[in-house]
Amino acid sequence: MKYKKEALDYIEESLAINPRVNGAGSLVRLGSYEAFLLHEEKLKSKSTLPLGSVLGETLYLVNDEDVVIGMINLRYELNGEFGKKYGHIGYSIRPKFRNQGYAVIQLKLVLDLYRKKGFKQVMLSTSPDNIGSQKVIIACGGYLFETLKIEDEIYLKYWIIL
Ligand SMILES: CC(C)(COP(=O)(O)OP(=O)(O)OC[C@H]1O[C@@H](n2cnc3c(N)ncnc32)[C@H](O)[C@@H]1OP(=O)(O)O)[C@@H](O)C(=O)NCCC(=O)NCCS
Repeated sequence: MKYKKEALDYIEESLAINPRVNGAGSLVRLGSYEAFLLHEEKLKSKSTLPLGSVLGETLYLVNDEDVVIGMINLRYELNGEFGKKYGHIGYSIRPKFRNQGYAVIQLKLVLDLYRKKGFKQVMLSTSPDNIGSQKVIIACGGYLFETLKIEDEIYLKYWIIL
């Protein structure tokens, strides 16, 4: 609960720019912070996993003043849509903190986490018009392995070897 206000402000500021908040989709979709925390709990175990979800968690990048700067959603499985389209990781940086190198820092931190969990590689995807995200992925060692078109959406799919 510590970051409730920060997280909700983050969502509000992000939604003012774009209706989709990468890395925090469930917080937007579920409508309340309490429901989001409950959902996060359910993602920890196969026995409580909601239909269509995969094991995973949402983490925040926070500065030393407890300001939430980034949100990043980690998936520990690549079932269904995640394998086909979205990959292991989705992220965003709070609008007023963009273009200061935080997305690269945030992604590098979670790559360490995947390493510690024993993953050998992670998959990420982005769109051709998201130059910022492509640069972030490449700065973290990503290489493009597939460009996929699904229902008029193009997905650039990258692997990062850990
Ligand atoms: C994409 C996003 C995460 C980048 O975050 P950021 O903190 O601004 O990125 P960084 O500051 O770490 O920048 C990394 C590189 O990307 C470049 N970059 C960042 N935003 C850019 C943009 N909109 N257009 C072009 N280049 C951009 C930076 O200049 C930097 O390049 P450099 O390595 O040559 O210096 C952020 O713009 C965002 O949250 N966007 C909305 C959500 C989103 O698109 N998430 C990714 C979904 S796949």
